[in-house]
Amino acid sequence: IERLLEKKDLEGKSILITAGPTREYLDPVRFISNRSSGKMGFALAEEAYKRGAKVTLISGPVNIQTYADIKIINVETASQMYDEVKKMKDEHDILIFSAAVADFRPKNFKESKIKKDQWQNLHIELEKNPDILKYAGETKKDWQIVVGFSAETENVVENSQKKLYEKNADLIVANNVLQEGAGFDVDTNIVTLISKDKILEFSKLTKREVASKIFDFIVDYLCRKEQ
Ligand code: CTP
Ligand code: CA
Repeated sequence: IERLLEKKDLEGKSILITAGPTREYLDPVRFISNRSSGKMGFALAEEAYKRGAKVTLISGPVNIQTYADIKIINVETASQMYDEVKKMKDEHDILIFSAAVADFRPKNFKESKIKKDQWQNLHIELEKNPDILKYAGETKKDWQIVVGFSAETENVVENSQKKLYEKNADLIVANNVLQEGAGFDVDTNIVTLISKDKILEFSKLTKREVASKIFDFIVDYLCRKEQ
């Protein structure tokens, strides 16, 4: 019965999701990364799959198993994630960027392990990684929907609205990462969904429930767009 009652409102849609952290290597044994378990991205993938979508997940290093029918492309660095998104994006209707991409990478990668005594005065020079969401927003086709996330510690709605416009996204999922029950490695999240014409605030929900709200919002957005 439960299966019969399940919504299949994403039938016929193909969805690309980025998830997890990226790793930016200094040398073969050391890297800079972001805190991210990948749970939100995997919850989105599973919810989309259950609602009938064809799902591709481009994931940084995480420790999660999922359904065999969800196609997973494993990457480590932001550059690798960017390359995969470039290759795959135009085969997908809905693009969701939930990955915690490292904004910077070490400018110089040392091919061999940096030894302790080589670190005279400890300076790591960094350079900017490509903004994958921004690239997807700027090159978006009119039949595509682009969804970004926004991790903030203050002025959550204002800063997230700025990201919506600057990255040409259709929807931003904003969260205050310092709030209890919205941080890293937990199974819950507290989000605000922001589009150009709508703001929806939610209290604490499981990541699966958040995923469901996000797709409800997307389906509603698509319906309004088609009118
Ligand atoms: N993002 C991305 N590529 C990057 C950086 C971020 O695709 N190099 C995406 C994230 O996956 C997320 C959104 O952009 O969907 C916002 O990420 P966030 O870190 O909140 O914002 P930034 O734009 O990176 O700005 P800042 O970190 O300065 O707040
Ligand atoms: Ca960032």
